[in-house]
Amino acid sequence: MRRIHRLGVVGVGLIGGSLAAAVRRAGLADEIVGLGRTEENLRVARERGLLDFAGTSPEVVAGSDLVVLATPVGTLAAAAAAVAPHLRDGAVVTDAGSVKSSVVAELDSLLQPRLRFVGGHPIAGTERSGAAAADPDLFRGARCVLTPVATTDRDALARVRELWEAVGMAVVEMPPEEHDRVLALTSHLPHVLAFSLALAAGDATGDPSMLDFAGPSFRSATRVAASSPETWRDILFANRDAVLRALEAFLGKASALADALRAGDAAAVERAIARARDVRRNLEAAAPGATAAARESASPDDVVTVAPAARGLAGEIAVPGDKSIAHRALLFAGVATGRSRIRGVGQGEDNASTMRVLAALGVAIERAGDAITVDGGGFEGLRAPRDVLDCGNSGTTMRLAAGLLAARPFVSRLDGDASLRRRPMARVIEPLAAMGAAIDSDAGRPPLTVRGRSLRPASVRLAIASAQVKTAILLAGLQTEGETAVAEPAMSRDHTERLLPAFGVAVERRSALDVAVRGPVALRAAEVDVPGDPSAAAFWLVAGAIVPGSRVVVRGVGVNPTRTGAIDVLRAMGARISLAPRAPVGDEPVADVTVEASELRGTTIAGDAMLRSIDEMPVLAVAAACADGETRFRDAAELRVKESDRLAAMAAGLEALGVSVEQHPDGLTIRGRAALRGGEVESHGDHRVAMAFAIAALVARGPVTIHGARAIAVSYPEFLATLASLRGSGA
Ligand code: S3P
Repeated sequence: MRRIHRLGVVGVGLIGGSLAAAVRRAGLADEIVGLGRTEENLRVARERGLLDFAGTSPEVVAGSDLVVLATPVGTLAAAAAAVAPHLRDGAVVTDAGSVKSSVVAELDSLLQPRLRFVGGHPIAGTERSGAAAADPDLFRGARCVLTPVATTDRDALARVRELWEAVGMAVVEMPPEEHDRVLALTSHLPHVLAFSLALAAGDATGDPSMLDFAGPSFRSATRVAASSPETWRDILFANRDAVLRALEAFLGKASALADALRAGDAAAVERAIARARDVRRNLEAAAPGATAAARESASPDDVVTVAPAARGLAGEIAVPGDKSIAHRALLFAGVATGRSRIRGVGQGEDNASTMRVLAALGVAIERAGDAITVDGGGFEGLRAPRDVLDCGNSGTTMRLAAGLLAARPFVSRLDGDASLRRRPMARVIEPLAAMGAAIDSDAGRPPLTVRGRSLRPASVRLAIASAQVKTAILLAGLQTEGETAVAEPAMSRDHTERLLPAFGVAVERRSALDVAVRGPVALRAAEVDVPGDPSAAAFWLVAGAIVPGSRVVVRGVGVNPTRTGAIDVLRAMGARISLAPRAPVGDEPVADVTVEASELRGTTIAGDAMLRSIDEMPVLAVAAACADGETRFRDAAELRVKESDRLAAMAAGLEALGVSVEQHPDGLTIRGRAALRGGEVESHGDHRVAMAFAIAALVARGPVTIHGARAIAVSYPEFLATLASLRGSGA
């Protein structure tokens, strides 16, 4: 770096003193001078040999070619104004304040153009203050943000960059506003929390000696509460708007956690902590000098290797409750009046998303073992959410909630994970708009902002058959004066129509393709049993059919005719599947389904059969890969906009396992073969793709490693355990 003739340090506290110490040790400047406020602190600085010359009046920095302003944010302007008259034209002035927009604007107009100002923020510090705390290693390995603006001199910027790099910092540049938004979340908010936590604990115990019991968590979470009150008062005021926004975001998360806790929603609490843990682990992994172990632990359980089956699969199993029915039962119960009880809701993340959204809308939900109790207060019982409604990976949660909230008198925002953010929402926004709904989106994709209002009834004709859209419209219709009808080009699953009567709502089914409700209507609480999910059962039906010597019984599977497409397709391929009917659960037919190893042959799956097996296509593609001859999937363009582009994901993975696959815009052609080879495949974050490849692994010649296997928890967290039990080896 270019040598500094005289470095002026204004404010010889922790940052200024540490910079002086680091520059001195590295021998970067001929001379270091310091301007301080108190003689006492300067004495410490002199004693520690940090400065060549120090004083309390601004002339001490006269002749400096580089000046660093390291006073509290609220006094930066006064400090700059005091030293400016003593500096030569063209001297470079930078600051170390942790707020940038207001500081840069003020110092720029104060100093430029005679002096050359560069906004900066070395992100380093401890809770200690004063020259006594100065540490030449304070900056090593940490980041420094510089915030140049249009008027910033490029050469001055380069000099300031060189200074911070020379003391060991990684320097990045960003606009002042961006810096403030980010730092509000990553620095200012944690300070506010530490102050509040210390106050809350201090006041709540009433007895200071109780804090002798403070554990390491309290100590680390309140460490920065020992910071300088003056410094932090100034920072919080200088970045007030961004800090308040960050605090709002925090309060939303805290209240969501409180809601879940109150509701006894252990799954939501666990999920929140798991997500928080991921954030924290990623932080460790991203830190400069992070260990390989930290980087690996950033994604636990995400890579799973499944070995080929050594013998036939055998056993009697149950599958999680039907995800589609559970979403509906939870939502209907959430807007019904009174206490509903829903039994058989699976532990998957998708249903947990619906529960979380309801809890955030003020519905009391409690899980006790297999049963979920929902205390609804009618549609009017829903209250405006304090935070974004996080739908996770669940398209059904988002689309159904859009219909439900379109007619509520408040604004809500629906968002989800990266996969959900890619999924089309116009299909639900447009028909709801025909009823007068106001829903903003990001060009037809999440996040959605639903500005609830009273709607008008409509007769909606859908271009694509969709049970989610149909249900969203009916949910809006239930809250709207008059008759709302939905007509579909083909019949989608009819769980909504079957379940609403249990909640006291009459549904008019004019034909298989045409349904209507009359609103406004109040739902009353109900007892609902959820049958086993046929989409989950499909994995075992394919596994039992393709692994030689297998016999698997799946008990209590829902066999609603709108959902049994996969069974029909597999039978058409030659699979030996038999159904033993059981008593229906509510209005849903149920059976025990048995599959035995079978010789499969290729088939064509299109039109209605495709619609009725749309969610099972990934595992049917595995069956196709094992079948004799060609299997054609058609009329399946919809699969390109599911949790992943399932056509592309299955084609890529099967090809990696040696299968010949041809992609079409609306389907796949798969040429079956006897054995697959082992290899590596990618789930693309899609639960059904991950599980389909685990089934493929059973008949491969070598192990199959599935990347992105964590997605399995979206619908079927017990999947790998059930697979192990069917192998009979625990393997
Ligand atoms: C679902 C409907 C189907 C299905 C999805 C769940 C539902 O989607 O693929 O997994 O619960 O209503 P579409 O409504 O988009 O067809």
